[in-house]
This record gives sequence, C-alpha cells and structure tokens, in this order.
Amino acid sequence: MYKTLTATACALLATTLLTTGCSESAKDTHPQQLLTKRKAVFKQFTGALEPLGLMARDRKPWDAAAFKAGALELQRLSTLPWPYFTADGNYPPTRAKPAVWDKPAEFKQAQDDYLAAVAALLTAAERGGADSGRPAVEQVEKACKSCHDRFRNAAPGS
Ligand code: HEC
Repeated sequence: MYKTLTATACALLATTLLTTGCSESAKDTHPQQLLTKRKAVFKQFTGALEPLGLMARDRKPWDAAAFKAGALELQRLSTLPWPYFTADGNYPPTRAKPAVWDKPAEFKQAQDDYLAAVAALLTAAERGGADSGRPAVEQVEKACKSCHDRFRNAAPGS
C-alpha cells in the first residue's frame, strides 16, 4: 500500500513540478539511519566485487595484487550490513523481504554462507592464480544472489 501511495505521489510530483530524484523524497526517518547505512555497505559490496567479476570473465587483465586487495575489501565489508537489520529496522522504503525478520535463522544462514564464500575467495586470492580465483568469484556472486532471491524484493518503484 505504501509503495502505491509513494508511486502515485512521485508521479504527481513528476508531472506538476517536473522533479526527478523522487527516491530521495522517501527519507530515512529512523533515528539510527539503519536503512541508509546498510544500503551504503551493500553498494560497497558491489564496488569491491565488480573488478573481480571483470577479471574472472576476462574483461579485465588478471591482476593478482588487485584481486587480493578486492578480496580483502570484501572480507572487511562482509560482516558490516547485518547489525543494521535490527528488530525495528523494517520500514519503507526497504527492499528487504519480511522473511529477514520472520525467518532469522535462515537469514543468518545466508549470511554465514556468504562469509564462507568470501573466506574461500581470500584463500584463492592468496594463492594468486586465475584458475582458483575464477570459481571463487562465482561462488561469492552465487551467495549474493541466493540471499537476494530469498530476502530482497525488486527495487521499490524503480
Ligand atoms: C545474507 C543476505 C545478503 C547477502 C549475502 C547479500 N545481500 Fe545484498 N541485500 C540484501 C538485502 C536484504 C538487501 C535489501 C536491503 C534493504 O533495502 O533494506 C540487499 C540490498 C543490496 C543492494 C541494494 C542497495 C540499495 O541501494 O538499495 C545491493 C547493490 C546489494 N545488496 C549487493 C550485494 C552484493 C554485491 C552482494 C554480494 C557481494 C550482496 N548484496 C550480498 C541481502 C544480502
């Protein structure tokens, strides 16, 4: 219901004021800015993973040092989003499914699977070769996707 209202309000604003950036009008009103903070970390996940994906697909030359730096960065980030999914952290415009809060054990398992994939990525990165690096990147990507399939909705209104 909220989504429909927001979409309607955005459509109205867009036609009357020609404003863009309607997503910014959906403010994070939580005093601890939980949604803003976890989204910022997830964006960093994407930023750190992207160059590794390009190397794994031969769209960028293999660079063992850069690969290892990316793996270390993913490991540093890997524990950061989860504390922002607190009991009072489910509010619009979150893309998290209710399952995050209704099935905490499964959500925790998805985090653990992800952490294991990142640990394996780092092991492969320390070995340095593309042969073990490639499949390790794929496993990390799978862990992202598997959690998203179960715990994240398509983008609200965009
Ligand atoms: C254990 C579950 C889980 C894992 C693992 C996970 N994500 Fe997510 N991700 C989520 C959830 C839930 C959201 C929705 C957050 C919200 O809107 O409250 C999300 C949101 C995002 C977003 C959207 C941020 C925004 O601005 O709305 C991006 C990008 C993202 N994840 C990338 C990744 C990448 C890349 C990986 C792997 C390197 C990853 N995620 C791993 C659960 C996960």
